[in-house]
Amino acid sequence: MEYAATITGTGSAFPEHRVTNHDIADRLAASNIETSDVWIRERTGIAERRFSTPGNSDEYNSSLGLAAAQKALEMAGKAPEDIDQIIYSTCTPDTIIPSTACWLQYKLGAVRAWGMDLNAACSGFIYGLTIADQFIRTNQVKTCLVVGAEILSSIINWQDRSSCILFGDGAGAAIVESAPSEFPHRILSSHLLSDGSLWELLHVPAGGSAQAATPDIMAQNLNKIHMNGREIFKIAVRTLTSFAMTALEKNGMTVDMLDWFIPHQANYRIIEAVAKRLELPMEKVLVNVDRYGNTSSATVPSMLDEAVRDGRIQKGQTVLLDAFGAGLTYGAILLRW
Ligand code: UT7
Repeated sequence: MEYAATITGTGSAFPEHRVTNHDIADRLAASNIETSDVWIRERTGIAERRFSTPGNSDEYNSSLGLAAAQKALEMAGKAPEDIDQIIYSTCTPDTIIPSTACWLQYKLGAVRAWGMDLNAACSGFIYGLTIADQFIRTNQVKTCLVVGAEILSSIINWQDRSSCILFGDGAGAAIVESAPSEFPHRILSSHLLSDGSLWELLHVPAGGSAQAATPDIMAQNLNKIHMNGREIFKIAVRTLTSFAMTALEKNGMTVDMLDWFIPHQANYRIIEAVAKRLELPMEKVLVNVDRYGNTSSATVPSMLDEAVRDGRIQKGQTVLLDAFGAGLTYGAILLRW
């Protein structure tokens, strides 16, 4: 008997605190750095994002992951004890050890599950879903919880106006279950690639084992995000487009057969440029970057959850997930909902 993976539940969660572009501009003004609501909207499409309140344990990474996971379980009609495996995608874990997957397992009471963290930055949810798909296809796992969650506010570089405007906090989750191999509502294919030679385009220099975050290093913001936005923009447009085409071609499909496109939500202009290259009307592109900014591995699952819950995504529709991120990492998944 062969198996396929099907998503049976989704969930998402965001911190309470809304941070508008005006709030960001005020914060930067205090350091004599200039930006404006108009610039941020025009260049990124972002109007606001959410930041967790430091020290509030209800808004730790694993707490947002927990809230998203509970909603996904409820939709799937499953209990925490039903989960065999937790794949937790994050680059901003609660702690270095234990893994955020273990924090979540403990908080959720998923006593039968084994869990691990995965860091593929903004492509992480797609990497995680791919791992779930593989374990389910080989019948090692019946029910997997995949989470993408970030507290990017903890690594924002407030000295860099081109990156500090982009990021937000949030979580998204999916329950992935085993089904017969030809089950119509399944993950059809996944496509992953990493290019470590481009590490410098988006990285946090210190805070790992290579360079400790000493007071001196922290004073230089080397434990925060360093990014070459212009270069990433070009690569993102190119790779999101090519991964989308690869996923469609692999399944003998063309762009017009796609019902929904969920790209990583980094910048509205990137999304628009990809849609244009694919000749895909924007009506088929799901976007929430305006309300949440770039939440890295949480963008794709939170957007999926929103569109499932508000009824835009309907049973039997074809959905393409597509992302790029620090690493650099790339990934796409084509699925039938
Ligand atoms: O998950 C992956 C995460 N990263 C990304 O996806 C980043 C992708 N890149 C982007 O989203 C865009 O490149 C940015 C939003 C980062 C920047 O937009 P851009 O249109 O590429 O601007 P730019 O870097 O070419 O800069 C244009 C100008 C510069 O001024 P000069 O040199 O022309 O005088 C910047 O200094 O805009 C200036 N600028 C700003 N001005 C006001 C950069 N950031 C800001 C700002 N407010 N926040």
